[in-house]
Amino acid sequence: MPPVRPAVEITSESPTTLEADCVVVGLFDDKQFDRPAAAMNAATGGALARLIEGGDLSGKPLELVPLLAPTGIRAAQVLVVGLGPRENFDRGTAFRAAAAAIRQLAARARQTVGVYLADLAPPDLAESAVAGALAGAQGQDLYRREKKTFAPARLLFAANAERGLQGGQVLGDAMNLCRRLVNEPPQELYPEVFADRASAVAQECGLTIETWDQARLEAERCGALLAVARGSERPPRLVMLRYRGAGNDARPLALVGKGVTFDSGGLSLKPSESMLTMKMDMAGAATVLAAVQAIARLKLPVNVVGLMGLVENMPGGRAMKLGDVLWARNGRSIEVHNTDAEGRLVLADVLSVAVEQRAGHIVDLATLTGACVVALGPHVAGAMSNDQPWCDRVLAAARRCGEPAWQLPMFAEYGEDIKSDVADIKNVGKGRWGGAIAAAKFLEEFVAGTPWTHLDIAGPAFLESPKPWLDAGGTGCFVRTLVELARNYQPVS
Ligand code: BES
Ligand code: MN
Ligand code: ZN
Repeated sequence: MPPVRPAVEITSESPTTLEADCVVVGLFDDKQFDRPAAAMNAATGGALARLIEGGDLSGKPLELVPLLAPTGIRAAQVLVVGLGPRENFDRGTAFRAAAAAIRQLAARARQTVGVYLADLAPPDLAESAVAGALAGAQGQDLYRREKKTFAPARLLFAANAERGLQGGQVLGDAMNLCRRLVNEPPQELYPEVFADRASAVAQECGLTIETWDQARLEAERCGALLAVARGSERPPRLVMLRYRGAGNDARPLALVGKGVTFDSGGLSLKPSESMLTMKMDMAGAATVLAAVQAIARLKLPVNVVGLMGLVENMPGGRAMKLGDVLWARNGRSIEVHNTDAEGRLVLADVLSVAVEQRAGHIVDLATLTGACVVALGPHVAGAMSNDQPWCDRVLAAARRCGEPAWQLPMFAEYGEDIKSDVADIKNVGKGRWGGAIAAAKFLEEFVAGTPWTHLDIAGPAFLESPKPWLDAGGTGCFVRTLVELARNYQPVS
């Protein structure tokens, strides 16, 4: 059963006369009422003012204060959501505020919820609020008989959200697609199934899709990706989605995703606790699929190619071994020192394909290293690049979307660590220090000088416990950033 998707509409009704199960209104921490809160306060005989006076309402970020069965308005409940400092109100805050409010309300089934955050709703903030509301309405309880999350049947937004309504739905749906793929269990979502899902998206959005199966991957000499797949009963796939929105042959923006549908570590087997969440190791590929879906639905005037390397990393009898030497598609030989460093092997070949697709610029997304989480913590993605201007553009897009990313250096010294005595390179660095960068240095060998930025999303792609605005599980992080990047993309000639 696919999760219920709320119908999203604009209402011209005021928050006090709207017929709804609940009306959400925002409050900044200066406690100056915007029009919706002012109207609410007046109609309820000063209820909000009294709550502020009593200290139960302050407008601090993500504060949620319900007003149950108030008199003077049509709705059965008001939920006041804190918006924090007025001057910091940005896309991230708008997204999280709407998401937190709807997530709280989704604890019970409801017909209609009205959302009136603030007076000023420039299209990008309105869009973020709509996307957030949809994300807050979707939980991870796909297989619970007794659901914990009930999406409201209808979400009505204030008239000033009109210009963000379509984009917000596209972004929210894309994030939810990504989150759902990440949350699906590995016995159900393996490479062939992921490829089928991509083909359904291609159909629906009018994208060209090319899927390489085992035989084709062999014919195409994808020796590194194939080596990872060898330990599994499930055959690998490489999926290529092409969106041509530029109306010319401009070199495409390439989005590349790591799609390890389950990472057991292979013969370098992970301990059980570390393996538990490894269904999420395809989050990079899910992010790429979701972003291409959104870019196509928004009909952005750019050419984009989305590439997903889909494999399962298992320790079967034919699994790659330590000491094996692999031949990557670009002719480089790779000595395997640890089969759990499989993501970079998969990406090596997929990046080569991106280069052959005449990519103008590349972004790859991968849950690549635990070391990146050690370096930056779980909330922040690591950014690594061979081209500072391109990295700056990726980081700027992430900042505008309120998605934290931080650059790590790529000094030549880090590259020394991956030299091998028997092959061109090996798949891990010397010790465990700087592991996120060693991995990026490995990937750099396969982009042939194309401007490239690598986002290591091992931390932010998956929540082990819920946030006020998002259920635990897949987060859909960087879907918005990739769309933002495509919106501003200037191709190279
Ligand atoms: N998929 C993991 C990285 C990971 C770890 C993602 C934790 C999310 C949370 C990756 O394939 C991996 O196992 N990396 C190894 C690399 C090491 C063997 C050099 C790691 O991080 O330990
Ligand atoms: Mn691994
Ligand atoms: Zn992995």
